[in-house]
Amino acid sequence: MQLRSFKFSLRLILPLAIVLGLFAFAIVPLVDNLTMRWFMRELDARSNMLANAMQDPLTEYVPQKSAKKINQLFDRAILDERLYALAFCDADNQLAYKTVTYPDSLGCRSVSPKLGVRQAVIHTPQGALHITESPLNTEAEHLGKLVLVHDMSFIERRNADTRKYVITLFALLAVIISLITVVVAHLSWRGWITSVKSLLRGGLLHREQSPAASNHSATVPPPTPPEVQPLEGDLRALLNEINLERRTRDDSSHIWTPEKLRTLLHEELAGDEVLVVSNREPYLHMHTRNGVEVRRPASGLVTAVEPVMRACSGTWIAHGSGSADRDAVDRNDRVPVPPANPSYTLRRVWLTKEEEEGYYYGFANEGLWPLCHIAHVRPVFRSGDWDQYVQVNQRFADAVIKEARTDDPVVLAQDYHFALLPRMVREVLPKATIITFWHIPWPNPESFGICPWREEILEGLLGSTTLGFHTEFHCKNFLETVDRYLEARIEHEVSTISYGGKLTKVEDYPISIAWPEAEDGPGVAESRTSIRQELGLPANQLLGIGVDRLDYTKGIIERFQAIEKMLEQHPEMVGRFSMVQIAAPSRSSLDEYQNFEARVRSLVQRINRRFGNSNYEPILLKVEHHDSDQVNRYYRAADVCLVTSLHDGMNLVAKEFIAARDDEHGVLILSQFTGAARELHEALIVNPYHIEQGAEAIYRALTMPEIEQRERMRSMRSLVKDFNIYRWAGRMLLDASRLRQRERIMTKIHSHSRKSLRRVV
Ligand code: G6P
Repeated sequence: MQLRSFKFSLRLILPLAIVLGLFAFAIVPLVDNLTMRWFMRELDARSNMLANAMQDPLTEYVPQKSAKKINQLFDRAILDERLYALAFCDADNQLAYKTVTYPDSLGCRSVSPKLGVRQAVIHTPQGALHITESPLNTEAEHLGKLVLVHDMSFIERRNADTRKYVITLFALLAVIISLITVVVAHLSWRGWITSVKSLLRGGLLHREQSPAASNHSATVPPPTPPEVQPLEGDLRALLNEINLERRTRDDSSHIWTPEKLRTLLHEELAGDEVLVVSNREPYLHMHTRNGVEVRRPASGLVTAVEPVMRACSGTWIAHGSGSADRDAVDRNDRVPVPPANPSYTLRRVWLTKEEEEGYYYGFANEGLWPLCHIAHVRPVFRSGDWDQYVQVNQRFADAVIKEARTDDPVVLAQDYHFALLPRMVREVLPKATIITFWHIPWPNPESFGICPWREEILEGLLGSTTLGFHTEFHCKNFLETVDRYLEARIEHEVSTISYGGKLTKVEDYPISIAWPEAEDGPGVAESRTSIRQELGLPANQLLGIGVDRLDYTKGIIERFQAIEKMLEQHPEMVGRFSMVQIAAPSRSSLDEYQNFEARVRSLVQRINRRFGNSNYEPILLKVEHHDSDQVNRYYRAADVCLVTSLHDGMNLVAKEFIAARDDEHGVLILSQFTGAARELHEALIVNPYHIEQGAEAIYRALTMPEIEQRERMRSMRSLVKDFNIYRWAGRMLLDASRLRQRERIMTKIHSHSRKSLRRVV
């Protein structure tokens, strides 16, 4: 605040000081000239007076040739500090008498060749001298001439003094005028602010009351000052929003629900439309032997965002990748979903084989995915893939613009597939609220610097109003990356980036899941029994569960190595413990993923050969798609859930497992390199690269006393329940709406205060 008022004062004073300074410098030579002329005139008069005063004694002493008297006369005269020397030249123009100070170089030559000029300034090694010649005559004869020499250095000294005074005077004047201006401006500004404050405190509040209430009120609302009247409506709106925000914050102890999110959207964003953009669609229509089936993809993003869309309605724009997708849409490529109970619209965008290859498999999954995960797989960047990435981002941005019914929709852009889209949308819809969420980690600036199109990616993302990551650490990495590669203004305290005149808030919003309804699916006891029966396992078999896409970032190999080590170190667990690994096939046309699958399968075979027999296999690998009901049954049947990602933005499997365990049993083993580990401190946190540590954790989980399991599980359940997906979306929407309102009001206040200031200055 102080800094701002200092800057404000500086803005007023500086131009004034510059103008006065220039004026002072222009006026100094004029003043010099004037004083010089004034002093010269004074010297001339003085010299004439002196010469006249010496005429009488000299006309007496010169004919007498009385050198002594003349010298005495001269010596007395030059006691005057300005009279420098005296001399007398006789009628033959020979130097007859002089004071010791008289410069020899002057001799008796006439000071000016011009007739009649008796006074002149000459420059000698001693400095500038003022010479006056005064003829000495008696009535009868011409005796000679008296030469008076005045030192002019005192004029220069005086001139310097005068210059100093003039400059000091102007400086003083500048300070006084500036101070007066600043005081007047501040008083007017304060007056304006006070009017706004009183309006906020009294006027608006009073006016907000019902007429009946104001009748009982003892105080009459003060009239709104005319200068604030144009703002009254906006301020009232702002006040309402702040009240609503306070209300929303005040009840933060309550659980976030779909209803609460809906209310918030309605009140905060005035029912604005919500458009989600993601690559993966929430529902795929697939041709199967039994006809068209609808499938939910294995995607953390879809798991999280789908419940939000159910609550908000709106439109979800995504790549139509199911084999029967085209058959399910209307002529605008739209289909209402969820199929059983439609609550929002899915708008499909079609991609050619070539586009999918370059944008999805190439740039997104061979480039950005390994780049951001740093899981020891080299990112591959090809210009052709980049071109497709740009083109597809533009296709989706066009779809957003086309779907938008207003010029300021709320756009939720998802993930690394659409880094360029926020800016592309912003260019056409500058008033849109664009919330981008990056679902995967953001690496450090050095690692990100590998990307040949790093500046374009950063610029694209900075088209967003709000940019979200799962953790503070990823936000920090992003801010540092922008700092390293773009000329942007970063405010670390408030986590904002100003780039190209646009402000982006960078914030951590840890993603979560929808807390399940109590009656969701079969209970724990039922699931324990039925799953063991289906797997052909004894009823008391200890069961581990892993649910992942078959992806090299998930630490599946390290997980199996830890199981192998645990069985090696605790042979009593051989035969007693089985691990079910659900591995949804993923991006399988990429070499890296095919190789990974082969390595996983061969490791499983080796471990099963080593510890298994015809009735027992320690690892049951299920490389196939499972729907959420099936997965939930496994979560409930398991004793331990293993999440051992080498790097993961959040990992929702960890949260899903916790949500499924309403019996408050079961142990979660969680990699320290997941975003979830920052929240779920009661899990057994492991470094997946440390195989012995992993083995130890598995053994500890399998032998953990029930009471400890309950304590840990209870605490984690209460966190996930409160910090659910509606809170994730609610916080982002609230922040964005606040930025949006603030920007609107600030624009008005700025333009108004500029007008007021212009009147003052
Ligand atoms: C991660 C990404 C999502 C993606 C999901 C599944 O969770 O953050 O954007 O949808 O993996 O990957 P896929 O390539 O099959 O969509």
